[in-house]
Amino acid sequence: ADTCAIVVAGGSGERFGDPRGKQFVDLAGMPLMCWSVAALDRCPSVARLVVVCAPDRARQVEEDVLSRLSLAKPVVLAPSGETRQGSVLSGLSVAPRDLEFVAVHDAARPLVEVEQVEACIAAVRADEALAGAILASRCTDTLKLVEGEKIVATPDRSFYWAAQTPQVFRRRALLAAHKAAARDEYLGTDDASLVERMGGRVRVVESTRDNIKVTLPEDLALAEATLERRLL
Ligand code: CTP
Ligand code: MG
Repeated sequence: ADTCAIVVAGGSGERFGDPRGKQFVDLAGMPLMCWSVAALDRCPSVARLVVVCAPDRARQVEEDVLSRLSLAKPVVLAPSGETRQGSVLSGLSVAPRDLEFVAVHDAARPLVEVEQVEACIAAVRADEALAGAILASRCTDTLKLVEGEKIVATPDRSFYWAAQTPQVFRRRALLAAHKAAARDEYLGTDDASLVERMGGRVRVVESTRDNIKVTLPEDLALAEATLERRLL
């Protein structure tokens, strides 16, 4: 095993709107983030886990998530930052130097599957020239470039993919990209964008649309339905 999984769970879930925080609401009998942590823990390539959470939630994560899962891999907690990017940097700073890869995953994506994580890690491992590989799904909607309300262009959809997590990188490449972004006050919307900005090559690994990020309240029912379907 050559990968450190970093699960970011330090957000406040504004759009979801539950005072408990979306990472802690019940999903099919467990706090939502249990599903993400458990999936990464089951990956053969993952040697250890870092869970990033708000310091005042550390006890809750220990008791309601880590204790109940009886994880196979060692896990450490790291304090979240003000932004997701800050939280990833915090997790990266405690990722062991002897593990070549890091897999950054949103706690809010409970539906990720072991095979998908492994495919992402394998993609980077297989190609020296790659700095990273991310799960992404092909866009199925027609995309419009809009200014104000005026459609300016309808780009060729076949070139567009929706980025998901995990996003897997060579640890040193991601750390360098995060340090540079912090220095330049560059705020990206995912980790890959920081690496791309440094000229690092990142590829996609095709994913399904199942791997949703629970963002709005209605996403929870969809996640629950997907989990039920898998058990059939
Ligand atoms: N996250 C984090 N630290 C932050 C912000 C977000 O660790 N400062 C994590 C979230 O917990 C989540 C993931 O990053 O697992 C993706 O972020 P998002 O879906 O935006 O979650 P929130 O920021 O919590 O939600 P919102 O943006 O609606 O407030
Ligand atoms: Mg957010």
